[in-house]
Amino acid sequence: MSGASNFVEGVDLSFVIILGASIFFLVGITIVMIYFVFRYRKKNNPTASHIHGNNKLEIIWTVIPTILVLIMFYFGWMGYKPMREVPDDAIPIKVYGQMWSWSYEYENGKISDKLVVPLDKPVKLDLISRDVVHSFYIPAFRIKEDVVPGANNYMWFIGQEEGSYNVFCAEYCGERHAYMLSTVEVIPEVEYLAWLERSDVPEGEHPGLTIIKRNACVSCHSLDGSKLVGPSFKGVYGITEVVLEGDTEVEITVDDEYIKSSISDPNAQVVKGYLPGLMISYKDQLSDEDVQQIIEYMKTLK
Ligand code: CUA
Repeated sequence: MSGASNFVEGVDLSFVIILGASIFFLVGITIVMIYFVFRYRKKNNPTASHIHGNNKLEIIWTVIPTILVLIMFYFGWMGYKPMREVPDDAIPIKVYGQMWSWSYEYENGKISDKLVVPLDKPVKLDLISRDVVHSFYIPAFRIKEDVVPGANNYMWFIGQEEGSYNVFCAEYCGERHAYMLSTVEVIPEVEYLAWLERSDVPEGEHPGLTIIKRNACVSCHSLDGSKLVGPSFKGVYGITEVVLEGDTEVEITVDDEYIKSSISDPNAQVVKGYLPGLMISYKDQLSDEDVQQIIEYMKTLK
């Protein structure tokens, strides 16, 4: 089988059949229409005549399209059905979607921001949303599935050609939806196994930064002072900010307490000028040590 994944052939075949039928009818109907305009123009038939129904014709134009759509359904179904039948030996990988990034967790605990998979091996993705509805889409593999909070969806595939492929979010999920990008890397199995055991954390990186990157904090909070959806982490520690508690403006100092409560209950005290409701609580995802490391790292961002 050819194609970047094992689903390319089935999906492309049904696509070509439907496109072919559409082109055939577009061209055919246009030609017949133009012909009729000339053939039955007023000069040829000055007085209109009344025509009754034609049973034979009606049967033909009911039966032929029915057969055609059944053919389309057949090829569509044959392309789709294997997508829901996961082989038992597929490698399970958890995919987390959250506003606005993808992350991947492997069985050995390794977490990555790109999906690395071995060539010619079936891979099963468990699709988990941490907040709203996203859609995991790998165009080159011809697969796309919704990632719905509270409902565990899945997809699977076999990467059949080495290379790097785009991953998109295909369900509008808020302001930075268009930046919710990632890649799939298909590499030989030996390289994959080596990658799986290797740590991706750059040597000497602050543990707080590792946690920040791993939890995709940086998709909303910049580290360089630029304003994204949330306040930048740069230079924020120790400053005084006006926050909104409901409708009341309160002045606070960005200290350990404020950062801790912002992580576990992000909508209680939102800095003035930013919108509430965009961040989920990370209470269950970050341990107390993690939070402390983040605070330590933020102190270094002057
Ligand atoms: Cu996630 Cu769009």
